[in-house]
Amino acid sequence: MAIVKASESAIRAAAELLRKGRLVAFPTETVYGLGGDATNGQAVAAIFAAKGRPKFNPLIVHVPDVAHVAAHGQLTPLAKRLADAFWPGALTLVLAKRPGTNLSDLVTAGLDTVALRVPDHPIAQALLVETGRPLAAPSANRSGRVSPTQAEHADADLGSEVALILDGGPTAHGLESTVLDARGDTPVLLRPGAVTAETIEAVLGTPLVRKPQDSAQPSAPGQLKSHYAPRARVRLDAIEVKRGEALLAFGPDVPQTTGPAINLSPTGDLMEAAANLFAALRALDKSGADTIAAMPIPEQGLGEAINDRLRRAAAPRA
Ligand code: TXA
Ligand code: MG
Repeated sequence: MAIVKASESAIRAAAELLRKGRLVAFPTETVYGLGGDATNGQAVAAIFAAKGRPKFNPLIVHVPDVAHVAAHGQLTPLAKRLADAFWPGALTLVLAKRPGTNLSDLVTAGLDTVALRVPDHPIAQALLVETGRPLAAPSANRSGRVSPTQAEHADADLGSEVALILDGGPTAHGLESTVLDARGDTPVLLRPGAVTAETIEAVLGTPLVRKPQDSAQPSAPGQLKSHYAPRARVRLDAIEVKRGEALLAFGPDVPQTTGPAINLSPTGDLMEAAANLFAALRALDKSGADTIAAMPIPEQGLGEAINDRLRRAAAPRA
């Protein structure tokens, strides 16, 4: 068993493994990440191999503070405002890559841009400081599968691929970070996530531009049409449960069912629903039902990101 409670000594051991090019799964405030030294091409290659991720997808690079962001990406005035407002936290900024950065070319998939994030989780922070390297860290699941919000999820998908899994309990947000392109004057939303578009728009006082969802060339794995998929099929906007279906419920008014059912939030709280989403999909998958009937979720606040993940989970598989 590769899971270790994230004590100080476990974090030191993890940092040493990372500096040697090994992979460590660790908690962030969004989801568990599959971490590797972003300056080490072999470590980054090992991440792609472990996840079975298509190579054209660039990875998010995690650093402990804005000064380290500036070492790898060019901070625009827009990026500085966003950094002030949201870092450390669940926002990822795509910036022009700084010439001379020591990041592996593989981590950016050869692009001249880089996605950077300063996470707000004490274990992620301690690990970044102790390792002294930027860490590439996609979600710690097999590519296309549901993201891990608990150490046990990372173990189930990648236990045999990682040197260590640092256990910090369930993650707070339960959804990946929001990804924004902040290279110009206009913020472009590339992936809805744990920080809502409304919150960002309120801080900036301008609307976000939304990238068309079905771009033929996905610049981000979150933009692949089928993603975040459980084994079972997912049926959206379910208002009743058919025979043999498992129910993913939301809110107080739940249809009758004798089958497996999980309510993301009986009170209809979107924060609670986001935090429970991926664990609920995993649990309903385990129940063996071949279809998960997902009740409608309001398309506001965190509902935008929750519905984005559910639509991808429901999309036809490649
Ligand atoms: O919450 C999170 O962001 C988690 C935790 C572990 O931090 N990490 C995560 O990383 O989800 P990853 O590598 O799975 O996410 C990749 C996302 C893609 O959806 C894409 O939007 C974006 O990062 N991305 C990365 N590099 C990019 C680039 N150069 N241009 C555009 N998008 C990029
Ligand atoms: Mg992912």
